[in-house]
Amino acid sequence: MRVFVTGASGWIGSAVVPELLEAGHQVIGLARSDASAAALTDAGVEVQRGSLDDLDQLRAAADASDGVIHLAFKHDLAFSGDFQGAADADRRAVETIGEALAGSDRPLMIASGLLGVAPGQVATEQDGHGSHAAGAAFGGGPQARWETAEFTLSLASQGVRSSIVRLPPTNHGDGDNGFIATLIGIAREKGVSGYIGDGANRWPAVHRLDSARLFRLGLEKAPAGSTLHPVADEGVPVRDIAEVIGRHLEVPVVSVAPENAAEHFTWMGGFLGLDAPASSRLTRELLGWEPTQPGLIADLDEGHYFQQAVTV
Ligand SMILES: NC(=O)c1ccc[n+]([C@@H]2O[C@H](COP(=O)([O-])OP(=O)(O)OC[C@H]3O[C@@H](n4cnc5c(N)ncnc54)[C@H](OP(=O)(O)O)[C@@H]3O)[C@@H](O)[C@H]2O)c1
Repeated sequence: MRVFVTGASGWIGSAVVPELLEAGHQVIGLARSDASAAALTDAGVEVQRGSLDDLDQLRAAADASDGVIHLAFKHDLAFSGDFQGAADADRRAVETIGEALAGSDRPLMIASGLLGVAPGQVATEQDGHGSHAAGAAFGGGPQARWETAEFTLSLASQGVRSSIVRLPPTNHGDGDNGFIATLIGIAREKGVSGYIGDGANRWPAVHRLDSARLFRLGLEKAPAGSTLHPVADEGVPVRDIAEVIGRHLEVPVVSVAPENAAEHFTWMGGFLGLDAPASSRLTRELLGWEPTQPGLIADLDEGHYFQQAVTV
């Protein structure tokens, strides 16, 4: 398949690309900078220069493809305080790609998230649809992003083989610079490895090589309108994560009171206390996907997360 991938140069994308190439697909990657274009070329990807805001280019690239995997997101904008702006750009991009693919039965997969889908319960692929509850806990931008995921599923009725991949908050692995690396950076800076309250709240997790394989399987065979969960660890208590970090950094493991979470954990304070276990049973049954990489705690124990100083 000739696959157009946005965000091909990112953390998830740079695992999805070799997964696709090794399976014999051809990849065209969107690149907004010379550096990203060079990285994609080195990875064996044909480069489509442009940004998420270049809607005509997105449309043309989607039109010329056999399917699209949309992973780009303006994290730089979102994390500088304009999540709504990032979510709005994402919606416009998905609408544009959806228009290009309408009536063709070609696949469109987008990255979505698991946090907030069914707080305090084990979220299944069937949860978080048809109401505004999923993103509402976090305010406007995340709500808009959740609506974009639901919009993507609705494209199934317009002849798009659309699916959403609800990624766990941590897609861990060597080179990760996301939530877990940030948590380690905070522990280094504060001299303690913290969790919120009793730390019993659970986070789902997956190794990024396993999530990349799910994107490939979904591209090849997910039915239109599928919700996919690349979940390997159903729910790792955050206290267990803090304990591994404390052991590797040789710092005390401490509880942080919920009222002090924002000060201690900065922007992660709003996420770290969420209880968000999730199941992937239906995804495994649908696609035959099984994770093969180390779980989160085992991956942390491999030591690569602790070999370099990470600052926040
Ligand atoms: N990583 C996780 O654990 C996780 C968890 C839940 C959901 N997700 C979602 O999964 C998707 C991929 O995440 P990721 O971790 O791979 O993110 P990432 O490492 O930050 O990569 C983001 C990608 O988007 C591209 N991009 C950003 N702004 C762009 C713009 N204006 N125009 C074109 N491309 C642009 C980046 O290009 P450059 O290379 O030029 O920067 C990069 O390729 C995102 O939607 C993310 O929110 C990720």
